[in-house]
Amino acid sequence: MQSKNPLIIDHQDGDEDLSNLSKNSHIEQVIEQRLTRRRLLQGALSSALLGFVSPGLAMTQKPKNEQPLIGFESVAISDQDRVIVPKGYQVEVLIPFDSPLPHPNRADLKIGSHHDGMHFFPIDGASDNGLLVLNHEYIEPRFMHAHYQGQAFTTGAVKLNDNNQRPLDEVKAEMAAHGVSVVHIQRNHQGQWQPVSDLRNRRIDATTPMTFSGPVRGHDLLKTAYSPDGTDSRGTLNNCAHGVTPWGTYLTCEENWAGYFYNPGEQPREQSRYGVRKQNSGRYAWEKAASDDTLYQRFYAAAHQASATQDFRNEPNTFGWVVEIDPMNPDSTPVKRTALGRFAHEGVVFQPAQAGQPIVCYMGDDARFEYLYKYVSDGVYQPGQSGGELLDKGTLYVARFYDDGKGEWLPLTFGQGLLTPAHGFHSQADVLVNTRLAADRLGATKMDRPEWGAVHPHNGEVYFTLTNNHRRTAEQTDEANPRENNRWGHIIRWREKANHPTRFEWDIFLLAGDSQDSQLAEASLDKTNQFNSPDGLWFDQDGRLWIQTDMSESVLNKGDWAQFGNNQMLACDPATHTIKRFLVGPVGQEVSGVTSTPDGKTLFVNIQHPGATTTPEDYARGQYVSHWPHGQGTPRSATLVITKTDQGVIGS
Ligand code: FEO
Ligand code: CA
Ligand code: CA
Repeated sequence: MQSKNPLIIDHQDGDEDLSNLSKNSHIEQVIEQRLTRRRLLQGALSSALLGFVSPGLAMTQKPKNEQPLIGFESVAISDQDRVIVPKGYQVEVLIPFDSPLPHPNRADLKIGSHHDGMHFFPIDGASDNGLLVLNHEYIEPRFMHAHYQGQAFTTGAVKLNDNNQRPLDEVKAEMAAHGVSVVHIQRNHQGQWQPVSDLRNRRIDATTPMTFSGPVRGHDLLKTAYSPDGTDSRGTLNNCAHGVTPWGTYLTCEENWAGYFYNPGEQPREQSRYGVRKQNSGRYAWEKAASDDTLYQRFYAAAHQASATQDFRNEPNTFGWVVEIDPMNPDSTPVKRTALGRFAHEGVVFQPAQAGQPIVCYMGDDARFEYLYKYVSDGVYQPGQSGGELLDKGTLYVARFYDDGKGEWLPLTFGQGLLTPAHGFHSQADVLVNTRLAADRLGATKMDRPEWGAVHPHNGEVYFTLTNNHRRTAEQTDEANPRENNRWGHIIRWREKANHPTRFEWDIFLLAGDSQDSQLAEASLDKTNQFNSPDGLWFDQDGRLWIQTDMSESVLNKGDWAQFGNNQMLACDPATHTIKRFLVGPVGQEVSGVTSTPDGKTLFVNIQHPGATTTPEDYARGQYVSHWPHGQGTPRSATLVITKTDQGVIGS
């Protein structure tokens, strides 16, 4: 949207508008089904909600007399500007935005902003020494540019100069604050974690050269003036969650990248189905940078030269991918793995890899009414030998959830089913660039914003957060997305059917919400564990499920949402349905990103966008709702380091 001041461009929170206008799935519902569903939701649970139906799928039972998995006392909700952890725990702050990233040869490296998905790669298996790799999803310009102070700026607003351009130094700083950080961290003799100088310390940002692999590499739709042969690109954007491959590399996922591009003209389907902006500018108006350099001009995605190799009409096609980074090799070129599809990638989670078997991973497309995906490699995993090539050849599937608790993986394979020239698809590359449209064609189930997934380390069950969807109407509900106006979100779970690569069984593990409107097994949540908008999700090695919340800035601490306080993190034992609130973050932030050392005794958690609920008026007055983590000045995203005072395993 446009501010009244012509020099201010304001796309607010940057969430993309609804772009799935396809008619599959939910129009098929009939009234009787809806009525039945409503009765079931109001009274007893439906069969799908009761847990897996098949006796063969009974949950793993815990042996008697074992220590409970969750051993801490739940913390109360809070709206304070500080981090709260349970009794017996301590918390420190590491690598806030803009702090130095120490490097033997470079003094200019800084930590990026808006910390998100993250993994600890131990060095030689150590639990006091490793590479912390984390995403930097986006930025808040008003907390970056000092001269914005005193003006009524929202969280997303940027200012043009008198020539209607963005000052180049600001655009450079904003691009540099995106991407991924690789940070060598060590615990010192006093027990404190610190970044240490290392040649492996690295910033990957919105400008870093990258290469493509997989079926789309070299395709016409990737050709640009920068890469006329369609093999290379620059930068990664809006890196939300992540994945860790069985061979020890980091996957960073490009989520709300489409809004960074601007094309006011007639948009081709590979732009319109993803939400490339038509009005005013890209998200931060980078295409209006005061420079002729195509590093910035490429964000103008209209066809305005004679051919695609002379302009950047295809630049949006170079985003929306999963990007593989080898954190141990600072000279490696990040690789965009196109076989995993192009959408608003939240994250990637793998089934434990088995020698001699294909690798299997799951991904969510985080937008309202988008889909859940699975990828299965053609090749088999060989420990010590396999690598990224397993992500280049395989089958991408999209999920269809049936109301009876059964599910089906539909292959997104060119030439099969409706994915043929007669239906507008001309190659596997075409299917992958247009993953969303191909999934529409197959009749995939439209979900309530798939966020993170997690695979149970002991039984292979897959859990995914569906964060919320206030746009779902009663007519659009189904058993997998059972609530109209889904304000609170839910967690869905499935288990692959043995010997049936395309079949699974599913249930709803948890309906989030307050004590009136929530469900976990046969109980409701209560004051000790109520939450909504589940987003981050992660299993530790003992099988604790960690859940992080992201109530959006527009509702946080307001109205019906005020009873949940600030965004929080909980721990859950899925076998006993125990769930406790472990952490509450400061004001205006979301909790996003969690990983631990191999011994489970140090937990790293990211705090993203503290202070984002500061109103434009309060911003103009210099009254920020948060000064976290420094207690003064501008709020900054940062990583928490959490340990137990008795040196025990976190959560135990
Ligand atoms: Fe970047 Fe879906 O959260
Ligand atoms: Ca997220
Ligand atoms: Ca989020």
